[in-house]
Amino acid sequence: ATSGLGTEIVNVVNKLQDVFTAVGTSASQIDLPQICVLGSQSSGKSSVLENIVGRDFLPRGTGIVTRRPLVLQLINRKPTPQQNGSASSEDLKSGGDSAANPDEWGEFLHLPGQKFYDFNKIRDEIPRDIEKQIRDMLLKYISRPSCIILAVTAANTDLANSDGLKLAREVDPEGQRTIGVLTKVDLMDQGTDVVDILAGRVIPLRLGYVPVVNRGQRDIETGKPIAAALEYERKFFETHPSYSNKAQYCGTPFLARKLNVILMAHIRATLPDIKQRISTQLAKYNTELQSLGGALGDGSSANVVLSVITEFCSEFRTTIDGNTNDLSLNE
Ligand code: GDP
Ligand code: NA
Ligand code: MG
Repeated sequence: ATSGLGTEIVNVVNKLQDVFTAVGTSASQIDLPQICVLGSQSSGKSSVLENIVGRDFLPRGTGIVTRRPLVLQLINRKPTPQQNGSASSEDLKSGGDSAANPDEWGEFLHLPGQKFYDFNKIRDEIPRDIEKQIRDMLLKYISRPSCIILAVTAANTDLANSDGLKLAREVDPEGQRTIGVLTKVDLMDQGTDVVDILAGRVIPLRLGYVPVVNRGQRDIETGKPIAAALEYERKFFETHPSYSNKAQYCGTPFLARKLNVILMAHIRATLPDIKQRISTQLAKYNTELQSLGGALGDGSSANVVLSVITEFCSEFRTTIDGNTNDLSLNE
């Protein structure tokens, strides 16, 4: 995104990602700082992400819309003329091993090597496991100390029951890397507000909470542009009796700046370690190669990566240092 509020951070992370794509598989061992957005269904996760990036790119809606917890591959080894390469509706209805075709089966990526010849069993596996899969997937990401957690809760629901906050607290009990995002502040009952939550009097978080107003379902249906939504959000906080005196700490632009600061600090803290690991690997490869009678030239891929990272550090030094100084983490 070139116009979004998160432009700077997007540039930095893109550049880092380019570098790690060049390193190939070993990049996965290097823990890049990342953001994980957690929250109940329809709490507004997709809406928050879009407003930060400044582009419409995610499906949003009142149901489970942005889901991708499983990958099912249908494999057809040898299509026979009768079967024509796909399961007939009769197979799906009748089920049982009587319908099984030895040349046709399903495999789930979360159950590697397990072949499902019975399509009823495939159907059983899909609802059975989904909750656990989502939980395991989330825990895998949010357990990493390098992961910043955006715990999204709709302001018109009870904070104590927030799925996002509950899960975040399992891996970050001190709230060192969890930011609370309160969506749908515009939908709160008249006379209620999130002031107590913002002041840390309900469930305190070290990095605090940011209230936002995203586009509602009607705005989505009428195609309201992001710029108009951000303008509406700004006016909402500036003119609301509960928030007008703290409007600079409310809304998506403030959330984006806060994320910039936190991510930049993470990246700055992580880069020396990344550099060190690549240097160590390079030295190891060189030693191995020398024992085989050769040495790596200057153009070796590890050398290239090292020089790109060094370049990266100096190129982004101003951005990284600048950002960490211009906004305190605890307002
Ligand atoms: P997700 O399931 O957590 O990704 O939630 P979505 O971003 O898809 O939003 C769910 C629904 O809530 C959509 O209809 C959004 O338009 C609506 N929504 C999200 N945030 C807000 C908000 O701050 N105010 C209002 N009025 N509606 C919102
Ligand atoms: Na949704
Ligand atoms: Mg979504």
